[in-house]
Formats: sequence, structure tokens, C-alpha cells
Amino acid sequence: MIIRKQPDLRYSDVTPQDVYLNRRRFLGVSAAAAAALAVPRSAQAATTKLNAAKTQPPFSVSEKETPFSTISGYNNFYEFGTGKEDPAQLAPKWRVPDPWQVRIEGPGADKPQTMDLNAIMKLAPLEERIYRHRCVEAWSIVVPWIGFSLSALLKVAAPNSKAKYVAFTSYYDGKAMLSQGEAGIRFPYVEGLRLDEAMNSLTMLCMGLYGQTLPNQNGAPLRIVVPWKYGFKSIKSINKISLVENQPPTTWNIANSREYGFYSNVNPEVDHPRWSQATENRLGELSRRKTLKFNGYGDQVAGMYAFMDLRKNY
Ligand code: MTE
Repeated sequence: MIIRKQPDLRYSDVTPQDVYLNRRRFLGVSAAAAAALAVPRSAQAATTKLNAAKTQPPFSVSEKETPFSTISGYNNFYEFGTGKEDPAQLAPKWRVPDPWQVRIEGPGADKPQTMDLNAIMKLAPLEERIYRHRCVEAWSIVVPWIGFSLSALLKVAAPNSKAKYVAFTSYYDGKAMLSQGEAGIRFPYVEGLRLDEAMNSLTMLCMGLYGQTLPNQNGAPLRIVVPWKYGFKSIKSINKISLVENQPPTTWNIANSREYGFYSNVNPEVDHPRWSQATENRLGELSRRKTLKFNGYGDQVAGMYAFMDLRKNY
């Protein structure tokens, strides 16, 4: 199998142009026009309605929500293509396995088990949380996610003293998804958090957005959302969670460790080696916004990094 060499990865290489094209695309385009542009109806997989209780700050910001058509039409999901509009075209054709099972295991789990999505959804009341979502490529959106704190699921596995990190694995089906050679990254996609990060109440186990189940291109049927970190930490379509002792490998860090660290906290003071992280393009807005440290969630999360040099631990 041919794996594309690290420096040739498309994710980062296309970025400046993508951001540029994206800015042009949204300049002066109304929400309705953007909706028409984004995803042809026929390409949308069926979603079902999900009721969720609205939340208050810090679980919801009062910034303008990005239109559904943008959130579901402009995605990073390399299993379904490396272009921003590929996942909206290809992911809806994927038949999400039913029942969806999630394995929770590892030396740090006293009660390893396999749970169905239906059982997982009953662990806590569903909440709508309006989070800022900041991609490492310097674009951002505001998403009304549906789900609850990941901690509700982790507690079921009874974490013990060996649980220092949480490793996540995405579902991978080579028949329905790109090969590693085509995507330029290793599959299955893997991500990880330190245990305290995973247990932080802002870290979300997410099953929906905008009042419905997740569109496939957004990580159906179950994903993680970590709002103070660059978007690639928010791993999609997960079917395995391991409670482990050592820092687990992560997909983009394996692909290019100089550019993508394990922590990847949103940080306007630490530039990506090839572009600034000081500002961002909020999709749909004309002028750039200043990027907020920890994506604006510092009050809730800065304490977890008080002892760390965030330039070294990028
Ligand atoms: N999860 C998987 N399995 N595969 C991916 O390619 N891309 C990540 C993250 N999770 C990705 C993934 C990146 S780079 C980003 S920015 C977010 O998903 C995008 O989430 P969104 O498409 O819902 O905005």
C-alpha cells in the first residue's frame, strides 16, 4: 500500500487556497443561496428528529449559529474525501451499521463493556450546546450540537488509577471509505485526550446537531466534540474508547508531528508552522475575527494546563 509522504499531505497543503476559496464563496452569499450551493437534497442521508434541552453559558454561546447547510456541506472527514465538499457527497451513501456498538475497554477500565448506541443515549438527558468550533486551518463555525458530557459514558466503565488517557477510534470500512493511500492518512482515524480533559464537562459525546441526528458527514452516529481544541481532536463516528496509561497515538500527529501536536489547544499565540493562528475566518462573515485562547473557553479549561508550556505542548 502506498502511503503519501508526510510533507505531501493534502490537509495542510490545500489550506491557504481552501480558506481563500471559502472566503470568496461566502462573500455576499445569503444563507438560502449557500444552502442551495452546499448539498443537493438527494445527497443527504436521512436524519431523525432529536429533542434536547437548551443550555446556558458556558455550555452555549450567544453568537450567531452557522447555517445547517454550511455545517453539513463544508467538512473534514477524510474517510469520505480530502476536499471540503466531498464528505457531503460521499458520506450520505454510507449505511451506518445498526445497531451501532461502542467498545469501552483498556487497562484503566474496571468494567469494560460493549454498549449499543440506544443504551448510550439513555445515560443522560440530551442537551443542546451551542459551541464555537475552530479548525486548525483557521476557519470556524458555531454549532448547536446535541449530546451530553462524555464523562457520563466514561463513568460506566469505572475508570481506575491506570486510566490516565482516553484513546478514541473511528469506525473504518475499506469498502465504503477511502483507502489510506487515497486519503494520505492512516485509518482507522484515532484521537486521544488526557483523562481530565475527557472528564471535563465541556467535552461532549455528540449524537446530533440542529435538532436532528448527526448527518453522516458530521460523524454519524456518534462523535466527540472538544470545543477548546482544534477541530481534528473532535473525532467522528467512534466505535472504540480505551482507558489507557500512556499518551495514545493520534492520526494527525502520526502524519506530521511538527504541525499537529497531541494537545492542540486553540492558541492564537502559537502559530502553525505554515500559517498564523491569530485570526480566523468565521464561515459566512466578511472580516476575520481574532481567535480566542482556548477558543474562548479559558475559564473552564485553562487550569488544566497551568503547569505546562503551551508552546512546547502545542
Ligand atoms: N474524524 C474522523 N474520523 N475523520 C476525519 O477526517 N476530521 C477532523 C474531525 N474529526 C476527521 C474527524 C477535523 S480535521 C475536523 S476540523 C472536524 O472533524 C470537522 O468536523 P465537522 O465536519 O463536523 O465540522
